[in-house]
Amino acid sequence: MSDLNALETRLSEEIANARDEAALEAVRVGALGKKGAISELLKTLGSMSPDERKAQGPLINGLRDRVANALAARKSEIETAALDNRLASERIDITLPAQDVPRGTVHPVSQVQAEITAIMASLGFSVAEGPDIESDDYNFTRLNIPAEHPARQMHDTFYMKPQADGSRPLLRTHTSPVQVRTMLANKPPIRIIAPGRTYRCDSDATHSPMFHQVEGLVIDESTHLGHLKWVLEELCSAFFEVPHVAMRLRPSYFPFTEPSVEVDIQCDRSGGKIKFGEGKDWLEIAGAGMVHPRVLEMCGIDPARYQGFAFGMGLDRLAMLKYSIPDLRPFFESDFRWLKHYGFAAFDIPSMEGGLSR
Ligand code: DAH
Repeated sequence: MSDLNALETRLSEEIANARDEAALEAVRVGALGKKGAISELLKTLGSMSPDERKAQGPLINGLRDRVANALAARKSEIETAALDNRLASERIDITLPAQDVPRGTVHPVSQVQAEITAIMASLGFSVAEGPDIESDDYNFTRLNIPAEHPARQMHDTFYMKPQADGSRPLLRTHTSPVQVRTMLANKPPIRIIAPGRTYRCDSDATHSPMFHQVEGLVIDESTHLGHLKWVLEELCSAFFEVPHVAMRLRPSYFPFTEPSVEVDIQCDRSGGKIKFGEGKDWLEIAGAGMVHPRVLEMCGIDPARYQGFAFGMGLDRLAMLKYSIPDLRPFFESDFRWLKHYGFAAFDIPSMEGGLSR
């Protein structure tokens, strides 16, 4: 009898001490397996006298049942503990910052657009928008480019099918129609930029049928060309991240400005690489001028009282210049290797205070 008690005590201890399923299984085999201690005891029942068997049978069977129950209970304890451990170790705290480096990058054109927007916002400009599909009226006529004007040929316009009313929508060839929309919808003073997509039927190493421009427009009572020059100087030195850029205005012609100028900034091309804020060379950076009185008139603004300047520049070219990107075509090829090489970290939002590109 004391043998049975001693066996039960030993097995209970072994079961309680089993740390994992393998250890518990070893205890089970040692007790209830084919050659286990309890199985061996059960085998002895056959050779006992009926009286002996009557006494021993319930004791040995009772021991077997209690041990089997204890094994099952311990097994479920071990399983629960293992699951708890796994849940604890695989827990994700979604409030912590992401540990993986973000894979997506910001396209250089988006970067440059964000940089210019940050600079111009610091000068008090708002962002105005217009649609990519524009009317002939806004893209040309109200910008003082009437039908049959030779400037229309220079724009290689993508026209759409004529509408029922005879009008022919087009893909805007420049961001200048946003000037029209802004003046029609707002009273001066006006101070806006309008970055966005533009389209011309043209394609080679330096031209893409879809490209990007940023337009600027300031209308007030005494705004003059000197203000234009100062704004563009501030824009260029901030954009190229140099303390100062020399700038020159050359006479030019645009139908929607009078006088019209082309804007060059000082640069240095001597080292094979272009540098800004120094040097003896010049690089054309924008078209600009004083908004033509006829344009003001066609956009509902009294030219006797108001005047202002406008400018337009190519964002793709600015991106190529600032980030030394030699070819325009890969801008629009969605090649991940190129995007990764020239792309910008998605969380580095350009600002005048925090830095534009570094
Ligand atoms: N819209 C012109 C173009 O795409 C660029 C331009 C020139 C815009 C002079 C202006 C401007 O606002 O004043 O070629």
